[in-house]
Amino acid sequence: MRVMVIGSGGREHCLAWKVRQNPSVKEIFCIPGNGGMSELGECVALSSLPEIVTFAREKAVDLVLVGPEGPLARGIVDLLKVQNIPVVGPDRNAALLESSKVFAKKFMERYGIPTAPFHIFEEYEEAVAYFRRRSEYPVVVKADGLASGKGVYILNDLDEALDALFEIMVSEKFGESGKRVVVEDFVQGEEATVMVLLDGKSYCFLPSSQDHKRVGEGDIGPNTGGMGAYSPAPITTPSVWDKIERRIVHPLLEGIQAEHLFYRGILYLGLMIDQKENPWVLEFNVRLGDPEAQVVLPRIQNDWVDLSFALWKGELDTVRLRVDAKEALGVVLVSQGYPGHYEVGKKIEGLEGAKERKGVFLFHAGTEKRADGFYTAGGRVLNVCALGENLADAYHKAYEAVSEIRFEGMYYRKDIGFRALKK
Ligand code: GLY
Repeated sequence: MRVMVIGSGGREHCLAWKVRQNPSVKEIFCIPGNGGMSELGECVALSSLPEIVTFAREKAVDLVLVGPEGPLARGIVDLLKVQNIPVVGPDRNAALLESSKVFAKKFMERYGIPTAPFHIFEEYEEAVAYFRRRSEYPVVVKADGLASGKGVYILNDLDEALDALFEIMVSEKFGESGKRVVVEDFVQGEEATVMVLLDGKSYCFLPSSQDHKRVGEGDIGPNTGGMGAYSPAPITTPSVWDKIERRIVHPLLEGIQAEHLFYRGILYLGLMIDQKENPWVLEFNVRLGDPEAQVVLPRIQNDWVDLSFALWKGELDTVRLRVDAKEALGVVLVSQGYPGHYEVGKKIEGLEGAKERKGVFLFHAGTEKRADGFYTAGGRVLNVCALGENLADAYHKAYEAVSEIRFEGMYYRKDIGFRALKK
């Protein structure tokens, strides 16, 4: 069997690693892949969707797994479906759940899914006038379209709100993505990630997790693509799970069916759990989370290729998910300066020793393989993940492995999992 994995981050390395565990998989094509993925398959730099589809057809690829949202939002599933090439993910229309915040909020409103009250603005002047009347802060402003995780602003006063609106709607920082904005109330609580496999008729929960988006310890500083994660997240108590299922996933499935959305993939629920254990949807993503996938997938005992075919064929109701009781924690090693300016091309040392540790998994992100070893090639460089008897054990294993690795300018947070470990 031949599998294509689209993407170049830690999530995609983890997907390729999971797929490699299936003995029928003979070849993996990583589009474009990274240094770590080059040890599991052939990395091919293709950029346009037609090129990817032609390559998949020529190589007789049996299954396509799409990591990031970009190709899904541009319609890769629509194109592969026409060629009858199995693929995991929503089509372009269904991907609007992530690629348009306006679509997602209106969808949630239509189906009674709990989310913060909101307003939509298409005109800058109207948004400004609204803020001149508004007195409650903090408030959240989101660019409508995809913005590489940078389009969400949490604002504390009128000045900040006006600056953000100007940046999004007048300076067009995110281009077309900022033509419309969603303004929503800020919900207090603790964030959690719950990812759901959906085949349009049935669903199956993956274990919960929690990401650490800020660059600094104690959750301070600018947002990043994620500095680490752990699974499960104890904030998702049985009562919270019950509410997620009844209040969010059931109406979501009803909406997907009523609106004839083609969804055979993974839906990411970015949740805020308030003090009364009520889950609120902050965002939908139409793919696995990164770095959440790197701590969730190692806990899944099912074969990922089988799960993917069950999704594609709409046979999720035949699947029983088996989850390792061990807990997982992952630390992201980044280049100094990330998420701002950083240098690349630094030699990475100590990978072999770290990788050989029991229960430790290394997933590469911004790395490049050269003749004499691995070099940094991005902001987020490596995910050092570990499975442990409990979260504290996973924490120690992961950080002991981190201590083996070195590269010039290496930075990481030392407090991944702090909320759960405190509990
Ligand atoms: N960890 C957040 C995301 O994948 O969007």
